[in-house]
Amino acid sequence: MKDRYNVAIVGATGAVGQEMMDILDERNFPIGELRLLASERSAGKEIEFKGNKLTIRKLDHDCFEGIDIALFSAGSSRTKEYADSAVKAGAVVIDNSSAYRLDPEVPLIIPEINPEAINGYKQKGIIANPNCTTAVTIMALKPLHDLGKIKRVIATSFQAVSGAGAGGLRELEQQTRAWANSEESESETFPHPIAFNVIPQIDIFQDNDYTKEEMKLHNETRKILGDESINLTATTVRVPVFRAHSVSVNIETEDKITASEAREALEKFPGVRVSDDPKNAVYPMPLDAAGKDDCIVGRIREDFTIDNGLTFWVVGDQLRKGAALNAVQIAELFIKSNGQNTNGI
Ligand code: A2P
Repeated sequence: MKDRYNVAIVGATGAVGQEMMDILDERNFPIGELRLLASERSAGKEIEFKGNKLTIRKLDHDCFEGIDIALFSAGSSRTKEYADSAVKAGAVVIDNSSAYRLDPEVPLIIPEINPEAINGYKQKGIIANPNCTTAVTIMALKPLHDLGKIKRVIATSFQAVSGAGAGGLRELEQQTRAWANSEESESETFPHPIAFNVIPQIDIFQDNDYTKEEMKLHNETRKILGDESINLTATTVRVPVFRAHSVSVNIETEDKITASEAREALEKFPGVRVSDDPKNAVYPMPLDAAGKDDCIVGRIREDFTIDNGLTFWVVGDQLRKGAALNAVQIAELFIKSNGQNTNGI
């Protein structure tokens, strides 16, 4: 095991890339060199890290030399084009996009849930980070699945604009300002105005009339929990919230789980916090979860319409647990497991 690791962030200027820098700093990640990569537009600009100014480099096939860990957060097409070059240069790739999530030769990991999958990186040199809404939802599903075996999940998400990257944050701010000044404003990131609106579409529609985001929840939940019998039907919705996704979840389990058993199991699960005192108006909201590492669960109640059903509400910062934090936790797990990519060279 090395003392220090050379880390590259692909997409360092983006919402997730910036969060990765904060988290590497906060967690005192053992960094040798931090290499910041982005598009030609950003090349030459400087970003401060631990008091030093780092110059952004343009992403190209030769920019991974000497890198041990490459954190990709610049979208699927960049991953598909450049991940192999990073692996060939000797790096392990931890990818935040959907490019490899369902590839049977690529592990899809949430360290609190399936850390044992880590050795799967040896097949392609790539580890996938889950979709942001999947990550937040599954943090609450896992302890309940262990307790009573989940058969079916019905989920409705309320997703923050930061899930669509820096452009999503800008668009909500601009449209809110424009509204306050009685001005017109354009929609570029989202298919409709997002300020003072709710859009029941995230990503593109598929042949079955679900969106890609909705099918990611179903497919990724099965892969991470290692259980192909779970069915999850979702409606994913964009809401005018800057940060943190909320998800309304209903589950049907094989064995009965009472609300108090659920609360106890969720409280014990690392990375999850329970905030559930509805009579005193205590339940998690996006403003409570923004900037926090834990996913917070509340409104836990037994579903009176079926025998073994539970309904709850989970909220998590999708830039953190849904993206950057989970990616850095995977990097920490990789270091603990071995810390060397023996694949691809
Ligand atoms: P840049 O800022 O130079 O465009 P977000 O999802 O928050 O919009 O962030 C996307 C990230 O992906 C940004 O860091 C962006 O860099 C980066 N990116 C987008 N297109 C490219 C590209 N063609 N090559 C390298 N990085 C890219």
